[in-house]
Amino acid sequence: MHIKSAEFVVSNSDVAKCPKSRLPEYAFIGRSNVGKSSLINMLTSRKSLAKTSGRPGKTQLINHFLINDNWHLVDLPGYGYAKVSKSAKKVFQKFITQYFGLREQLVTAFVLVDIRHKPQPIDLDFMKWLGETGVPFSIIFTKADKLRPKAIENHVEDYKSVLLETWEDVPNYFITSSSKDIGKDEVLNYIEGLNDNMKLDSY
Ligand code: GTP
Ligand code: MG
Repeated sequence: MHIKSAEFVVSNSDVAKCPKSRLPEYAFIGRSNVGKSSLINMLTSRKSLAKTSGRPGKTQLINHFLINDNWHLVDLPGYGYAKVSKSAKKVFQKFITQYFGLREQLVTAFVLVDIRHKPQPIDLDFMKWLGETGVPFSIIFTKADKLRPKAIENHVEDYKSVLLETWEDVPNYFITSSSKDIGKDEVLNYIEGLNDNMKLDSY
């Protein structure tokens, strides 16, 4: 898919104030600092559409971006950042939970995990919760530029075997690097395919 336009629409902490349009929507979620905002910039080829930072906890709101005038991409705050105060964490948790529970336009969530780390309970628990909530999801491994190809392969295989302890099938997954532009076409083509299916469904 070619990205012709990518515009910021709105930021807020209340799912009721998210755009009312019925355009299909794709959300990016994962631990703080995993690279959600960077990935959004890589996918859209816009250097600073989504705000990124070396310090975790940068994205604090639900951010909607309109792509090609026909779908939304959503940047969310990260979970699991220890230094965010307990009360802030609760607020994040509440609106993230509401977002996934209430947003009917959401086609798929992309759960980002850092390819360098072993499977973390916080990510596995979140995927389990998405499953229980009935939200389809795919996994995006980030920061692939930090590992050699063989190590990437090993880490992905480890991750798959842990997933198979909970899931019957391994969810769809993508290997990406925002700094090296890896995985962009795969993710965009996947979204394009889902958008096309939605159109067919509505005929
Ligand atoms: P929060 O908004 O705080 O939850 O973080 P985030 O998940 O949006 O992460 P963000 O995109 O702000 O990136 C966090 C840090 O990781 C930044 O220093 C990025 O430059 C770095 N980073 C993101 N993606 C990559 C990548 O593919 N490769 C490398 N080497 N660094 C990356
Ligand atoms: Mg962010």
